[in-house]
Amino acid sequence: MTDTFKFKITSPVQIQHGTFYVAVFGCQMNVYDGDRIRDLLSAQGYSEVTTPKDASVIVFVTCAVRAKAENRVFKQLETWRHQGLVKDDAVIALGGCVGSELGQKILDLNSDIHIVFGPRTVHKLPSLLSTYLGSGQRCVDVEADSLDKFDALPSPGARGASAFITIMEGCSNKCTYCIVPYTRGEEISRSPEDILKECEDFLSQGVIEIHLLGQNVNSYRGVDKNGIVCDFATLLYEIAALDGVKRIRFTTSNPMDFSDEIIRAIKELPIIADQIHVPIQAGSDRILEKMHRRYTVDSYKTLVNKIRKARPTAQISSDFIVGFPGETYEDFKQTVEAVKEIGFDQSFSFIYSPRPGTPAAKMDDPIAFSDKQKWLYELQEELEKSTARIGQSLIGTTQEVLVEGISRKDANELKARASNGRITVFKGTSDLIGQMVKVKIVGVASHTLKAERIL
Ligand code: SAH
Ligand code: SF4
Ligand code: F3S
Repeated sequence: MTDTFKFKITSPVQIQHGTFYVAVFGCQMNVYDGDRIRDLLSAQGYSEVTTPKDASVIVFVTCAVRAKAENRVFKQLETWRHQGLVKDDAVIALGGCVGSELGQKILDLNSDIHIVFGPRTVHKLPSLLSTYLGSGQRCVDVEADSLDKFDALPSPGARGASAFITIMEGCSNKCTYCIVPYTRGEEISRSPEDILKECEDFLSQGVIEIHLLGQNVNSYRGVDKNGIVCDFATLLYEIAALDGVKRIRFTTSNPMDFSDEIIRAIKELPIIADQIHVPIQAGSDRILEKMHRRYTVDSYKTLVNKIRKARPTAQISSDFIVGFPGETYEDFKQTVEAVKEIGFDQSFSFIYSPRPGTPAAKMDDPIAFSDKQKWLYELQEELEKSTARIGQSLIGTTQEVLVEGISRKDANELKARASNGRITVFKGTSDLIGQMVKVKIVGVASHTLKAERIL
């Protein structure tokens, strides 16, 4: 028997006087959840600290997308313990996708973890904490059917001029390699009113860039208070009409749901950023079918051409999986060809990682890992060439950049983000932080654009 129990209703949460530290791994949806956890714990009376060493509560927001990502959290905890960075009486809470993937197993295998929660039960963390602190019983709660989380969270606190807003949870696409539908649950969209209210909350705090998040934002279908369905294109127009918003970003778009209405919004709304992230994953139709991606390389190219026609300055970035089960070198070469032909800016590429419970994990996978590694390097070389070509083509252009802070390398320089997603550095003073500034691109070093301010 273990000293754990399934979380049920608890007594009202008491104001606490402890300290907390949040460590976030994985995607931007986790960054959003991490910030909401900060809001929640602060509202409970906890104060945030900048090192785990000073924390009475350490919260991990984890990622399960690849085995390596999943293991990181356990390694991190072990390292901190070795370094003496975890207080003996610190409460360790593990949330995020590993929480919902493994649930109770985490407590069974790790006696030093006290609370397990998931992406949908973020809002229950204060109650879980008070239960653990009150009874000493470790607890797990990863199940929630609805969007209760968003109703239960306090008003969001802005952290800079750009804010992430999760517009939907989960994913129902079930790409055969992917664990997300099992960790974040079936796809469900927040209502447009709820999202617009959150945008307004952020905008009233000085935010000027809204970054909408979902596993597949293109399939957003929120139901408004009159029962009318609002699609993603409509949501974009509604957010663009809010006072104070200067830029809108969105991540991620599955190519299969990228409608003509969304492309029209990109054409008609200049405040939508130039960076459009549309993961292709592979350049072979045979592999795309095995992945259950539901588009072809040709339909992907047609989509990119449409986006580029609507927005000539658009930069397409992508995700790639190398070495999917049954992929041959000939299949892989088609991915390299697609990169050469389409031209991608700043993309992500990974070796396929079998995830428990996914259909692909049961498929024959005869290619050696060392070969997959060589393929990955080959792809990354081509992606770097593509990114370098695009970087060169930006020299001489004027860009509006959002200033994020002081450059780490040079205190006289500011670090900003261009509409196309590129980090841009230029000489300037700290009063510009949080503002949109016009610059001319004068050079490029690796992926970073060098610029001069246009006055
Ligand atoms: N919803 C997004 C992807 C979210 S996961 C979409 O469909 O585009 C982010 C990226 O992780 C994916 O695009 C994919 O490239 C990668 N990924 C997901 N599962 C993986 C696995 N099992 N092995 C390797 N990479 C994986
Ligand atoms: Fe995973 Fe596919 Fe859903 Fe993206 S669309 S989260 S890759 S199942
Ligand atoms: Fe990772 Fe979950 Fe995001 S698995 S990529 S944290 S949705």
